[in-house]
Amino acid sequence: MSILELSQKRFSARKYKDLPVSDEDLHYILEVTRMAPSAVNKQAWKFVIVKSEHARKHLQECYDREWFKSAPLYIICLRDVENNWIRQEDKKPHGDIDVAIATEHLCLAAAERGLGSCWVCNFDVDKLKTYFPYVGFEPVAIIPLGHIATDCLPNEKKRKSIEEITEII
Ligand SMILES: Cc1cc2nc3c(=O)[nH]c(=O)nc-3n(C[C@H](O)[C@H](O)[C@H](O)COP(=O)(O)O)c2cc1C
Repeated sequence: MSILELSQKRFSARKYKDLPVSDEDLHYILEVTRMAPSAVNKQAWKFVIVKSEHARKHLQECYDREWFKSAPLYIICLRDVENNWIRQEDKKPHGDIDVAIATEHLCLAAAERGLGSCWVCNFDVDKLKTYFPYVGFEPVAIIPLGHIATDCLPNEKKRKSIEEITEII
């Protein structure tokens, strides 16, 4: 599959089958995630795999949507607050960018393996920090991961045209 085909195939899957993600698929996805570039190669990230029933229940409270509960597994993507590169000139921290790149690697790898995923950032931050207290880390996104339900159809790709988003100078 070309990168174009893969990026067209990936969509926000919001319903999953009651089937586990295999260890082999998970390992492949994490390997692709690990290969992401990062500012000054700091790899200012942590990925927490939420698999146990107990942890899943807690996470589901942090994003209270019916579809979200159907995922067999979640990955919490966190930014290393102390160790991310900060640009001297304007003090801009680059950890969110690092985590975002790695997280999209993750989603594309899942799509390549025929699995579904969805970026979730609209979670209850305080609740998540209480249930999953990783000192020195800030949660950026939650990615539910699983086999896409048969009645979960790909969303129409509504995207701006190349002309709208670019300028040749
Ligand atoms: C940073 C970010 C945050 C998002 N947060 C949420 C979210 O909290 N809940 C949700 O259902 N979808 C969320 N999405 C998914 C977007 O709505 C989706 O990517 C967009 O509408 C394009 O659709 P597609 O992913 O199917 O191509 C998020 C996506 C991104 C990139």
